[in-house]
Amino acid sequence: MAQFQKDIRKIGIFTSGGDAPGMNAAIRAVVRIATSRNLETVGILSGYIGLIEGLFRPLQTRDMGNIIQRGGTILKTGRSADFLKADVRQQAVENLKRAGIDALVCIGGDGSFRGAHTLWTEHQVPVVGIPGTIDNDIFGTDRTIGFDTAVNTALGAIDKIRDTADSHDRVFIVEVMGRNSGFIASWVGLAGGAEEIFTPDANTTVDKAVDRIREAQKRGKKSSIIIAAEGQKPGRAYDLADAIRKKTGLDAKVCILGHQQRGGSPTANDRILASRMGAAAVDALLKGHCDVMVGTDRDQLTLVSLEQATSQEKKTPLDYIQLANWLAT
Ligand code: F6P
Repeated sequence: MAQFQKDIRKIGIFTSGGDAPGMNAAIRAVVRIATSRNLETVGILSGYIGLIEGLFRPLQTRDMGNIIQRGGTILKTGRSADFLKADVRQQAVENLKRAGIDALVCIGGDGSFRGAHTLWTEHQVPVVGIPGTIDNDIFGTDRTIGFDTAVNTALGAIDKIRDTADSHDRVFIVEVMGRNSGFIASWVGLAGGAEEIFTPDANTTVDKAVDRIREAQKRGKKSSIIIAAEGQKPGRAYDLADAIRKKTGLDAKVCILGHQQRGGSPTANDRILASRMGAAAVDALLKGHCDVMVGTDRDQLTLVSLEQATSQEKKTPLDYIQLANWLAT
């Protein structure tokens, strides 16, 4: 694990990539714990964009009032392709020096952590990462901040869709977020009693789904919910619905849950995870640790190198999909 030697007095904090419910709770924890350790904190606005453009704002413990329950991120967020350029990174580092920021806490996903890792390896800026993404796709932590809320938001929608699917005896394809990861899909599929779950890494096929719908119909089941992870191509649920319509003649309906999964008030689990991780990030910096992400392993806080967190793949729990299949009889 990387170590740095200098004393730190001022920590910069930013959120980056897709927002996730619980990011505000993490910001609050970082600011309040840092303040209690006599450190100053500075908010960097809009992720790496703020780092590049010097969009900094001092944060006090009182600024953190009334945000633990709020979705989104008070610091705004963004995705910056410019940060891939060395001269732009140099400019960001100069901004940090000018503002007297000694170390950073980066709340985001794997893309954000790659940027953070480069800041350390290229410019020796000490950074600690906090995993904040609804996708739960970061290696080295059981959970990412926002995942629990997103799963519950999607589940609420699926329960409602089931009411109408059942009333009309319909098949619904519900598309959830997660990019290449099948975490949200497998969790909501199992929790929502889905008949079939498509993820980029599960070997579910349209033929298998159709067989299952037909078998279920023989058993007297008239409606089905199929969950599709968006994968690389949001909107793929329409292709699946077309294929199912062609093979069965059933009027398969599509519902794409989209960005509502990213919003809303964080669940208790996400607030607690964010609070623990925020506090641990400050303490890690005070112990001289950097180029690491705070993670959890069986509910215990851990530190994992950013290199490892960004280079290894976290696998979708395919056993959840198997179990969902067995239970949807
Ligand atoms: O990484 C979080 C996430 O919500 C993914 O699930 C999704 O594919 C992506 O972000 C969408 O990003 P954007 O809001 O930039 O379109």
